[in-house]
This record gives sequence, C-alpha cells and structure tokens, in this order.
Amino acid sequence: MEKRSMHPQLRKFKAGESFILEGPSSIRVVSGEVNSLGVKMLPGQGIVIPEFKSLPFLVEKDCELELRVTGESSLKFSEEYLPKDWVELSEKLASVDRRFTVVVLGDLDSGKSTLTTFLANVLLQRGLKVAVIDADTGQKDLGAPGTIGMKILDKPTPILSGCPEDSAFFVGSTSPAGLIDRSIAGVLVLVNKALKAGVEAVLIDTTGWVYGREARELKTVMINALTPEFIVAIQRRGELESLLRSLVTTSSEIIRVSAPKNVRARSRSERKAIRSRVFRKYLKGGKRITLSMRDIAIQYSFLGSGGELDGEKVDLFQRILGGTIIYGEEFEDFLLLVLDERSPIDTSTLFKLRETVANKALRVLRRSDFKNVLCGLLDKEGCFIGLGILEDVDFKLRKLNIYTSVEERKIAAVQIGSMKVNREGMEEGWIGSWRF
Ligand SMILES: Nc1ncnc2c1ncn2[C@@H]1O[C@H](COP(=O)(O)OP(=O)(O)OP(=O)(O)O)[C@@H](O)[C@H]1O
Ligand SMILES: [Mg+2]
Repeated sequence: MEKRSMHPQLRKFKAGESFILEGPSSIRVVSGEVNSLGVKMLPGQGIVIPEFKSLPFLVEKDCELELRVTGESSLKFSEEYLPKDWVELSEKLASVDRRFTVVVLGDLDSGKSTLTTFLANVLLQRGLKVAVIDADTGQKDLGAPGTIGMKILDKPTPILSGCPEDSAFFVGSTSPAGLIDRSIAGVLVLVNKALKAGVEAVLIDTTGWVYGREARELKTVMINALTPEFIVAIQRRGELESLLRSLVTTSSEIIRVSAPKNVRARSRSERKAIRSRVFRKYLKGGKRITLSMRDIAIQYSFLGSGGELDGEKVDLFQRILGGTIIYGEEFEDFLLLVLDERSPIDTSTLFKLRETVANKALRVLRRSDFKNVLCGLLDKEGCFIGLGILEDVDFKLRKLNIYTSVEERKIAAVQIGSMKVNREGMEEGWIGSWRF
C-alpha cells in the first residue's frame, strides 16, 4: 500500500483552471475562491475527500489553497470541470416554475451521484426546497447500505455522503436483484415524504444496474409509478437508448446528457470496502440487545408468525430426518424446521419429509443460518430507525439477539434482510429473501 504522507502544502492556482482531487485528501482555501459541484468555497472553507472518491474543482478567482494529498497523482489538472450539458440542465431545471421530480439514470460509474449532487446544489441556491433520494442500495451517498435514503438539503455540499439522511427505507440487501418490489416501494414512500414536507424539487439518484431483464423491470416500473417530470439519462455511447425507447413519456421529458471525462471508476473490491466503511459507521456504538418475538413484528420472514409444532409432529419429523429439531413453526402453506448443528440434512430424508407434508413448502435450516443476518429496525409508526445484525435466535425463549446502535425501547418491528454482515461491516454473503 502507498505510504500516506498527508503533510499540508500550499499551492497557487489561476482563475479559470480546473483540477481534480483524489481522496483521501483535503483542501482548504487560504485566499481567492474555488467551486466544486456548484458550491462556492471561500477563505477558511474546505472539504475532506474520502478514499476511492475524486472531486472536480473550478478556480473562480486566483487562489492559494492548502492541500493535503497522499501523492503527486492525487492532484490532476483537467480540461473539463463538468460537462457543458450538465450546466445547461441545471439552468433549465432552475427555471421550472412548478414542483418537479427528476430521475437520474446511468450505467455504473457514469457520474449519476455527482450530477444529482450538482443539481441539488444549484437548485438549493436558487431558493428551491430540494430533496435527494439515494435509491442505490449498494454505493450509498445517503443512508446505510441495503436501504434507500432521503435527505432534504439544508446547505449546499459537494459531498453528500457525510450528511445524515432524514428518512430511509430498508430494502434488505446491497443489491436490488430479487428485491425489485421493495426498491420501487421505497422510492415511492420517500418521494411522498419529501412532497408532504413541501419539497419543490425531488432528485432521485438510481443504481447503475441498467442491463438485463430485472434491471429494466426496476427502472420501467419505478418510472411508470412515479411519472417524474424529468428523466435524465447520462450516456457515453447511447447505452440507455433501448431502455429509453420503451418508456411512455407523455408526462416525462427525457433529457440526455454526457458522462464526465474524468469519472473515477471503482473496482468491485473498492465498492465492497466503501460499503464496509458505511456499515461500520451505522453500527458504531452498537450493543447486543434481546427482543422477544412475541412483542415485536417480524417482516420479510415467516419467523414468529406461525403456529407451534406439537410434540407428536416433532417426533415424527425427527424420525424421518434422523436428527434433532430445536425449533419449528407451522403455517397453512409452509413448514419451518431448525435442526441442531450435528443433525444431517440430506436430500433423501428431505424428500421423505416433503411427501409427509405434501401441501406445504418446506424449509429445513440450522441455527447458523440465523447468524449475522442484516436487519432493518422500525419504530411503531413503521419508519426505519436503523440497521441491526441478527446474531442469533434463542429458539427456546423465542428471542432475537440483535447487534445495533438503536435504542431497544424504540424498536417495534424487525425486517429480515437478504444478506449477512458482521459487526466489522464485512459482508458474509447473500441468503436470498424470505430464507426463513
Ligand atoms: N467531472 C468529474 N471530475 C472528476 N471526478 C468526477 C467527475 N464526475 C464524477 N467524478 C468522480 O467519479 C466517481 C464516480 O462518480 P459517481 O459516484 O457520480 O458515479 P455513479 O454513476 O454515481 O457511480 P455508481 O454507479 O457507483 O453509483 C466519484 O468519485 C466522483 O466524485
Ligand atoms: Mg452513484
């Protein structure tokens, strides 16, 4: 790894120059004036740029800047500050004289979040009440991984990711695949919240997942349900045309803009590291709490809402499976069995059991399947109040042991996510929705 010398250095820049700073780095204006994503920075003002991110600056007036960078390559001069059509778009939106919603579409690393931030800053400074909805459950600016976040901006900022969100909606995984319904519902819920709060411009930053059947489904249904006034498509080479052609746009105007030349692409491992960092932030100060399955609602899961198995059935199922059942729940159409770790689970015994409970879907799990499952925690109004990790279930006492920084007394419901993560924010894999 590169050695990080972050000693401050003073540098002079000329009006009209533009440059890019790569994080981790920081910038402070000593004299003169710079602009980043529509935000003016004056002497004494500055910003910290996190790792794996880069930020463009335009020198408005000759200036001296104090920079802390990791190496010479962290600072690059560039011809282009922002694409011209981004500035034109911001002017167009600033002149709209009614409430409006904008959906920003684009491939991975096309500049969606940067454009959303830039537009939000311009509109806010023109006096509009602006909300940003971050509908990307993986690479977050607003909110925790696995959620959709919304913030009503109170001040312009070139980096949204430090700002706490006002509201969020738990989807359950860092990937929307298999969770299209929740991803769309989340956007609708948060748009409504923003409009109820009197927001005049709602900007929706979406995932870079734009190819394939499910991605098309997500984008099409979301747009059909929202009927946004504007659909902004960032393209490099017409890659969104096929999606755009399929949209009914009587009430939405499609605006095509270009991708910046200097986007800093992120690798899969960098994306994972960023998610871990944000998970850790949301779990910081956490402790292990115990919630009774009788006192709270459990969603996106069958757990806790079925009937207890009687002793006779337990004996029968144990004989068939040749193992020890430590927990079971029965539903009209579903049977959930949890075996101790030593009990074998093989296809032939499962087949026999399936024949015995012919009218029910069957799920046979082990205690370890309930370990480190990402959860969303809701208050009694059904609002998301934080993340949790289901660390284990006390099947005897019907209790959930959850690691979270949310106060126990505020929790009225637990939503079971579709992935595993540990206290250090490391992802431990995808478990699918409604696993138990
Ligand atoms: N004009 C620009 N000059 C320099 N850096 C830029 C510019 N536009 C974007 N970037 C940087 O490139 C990176 C990727 O941009 P951004 O996050 O906006 O893309 P995205 O399409 O939202 O990506 P994702 O698909 O991960 O959501 C960011 O670090 C961003 O700050
Ligand atoms: Mg983004």
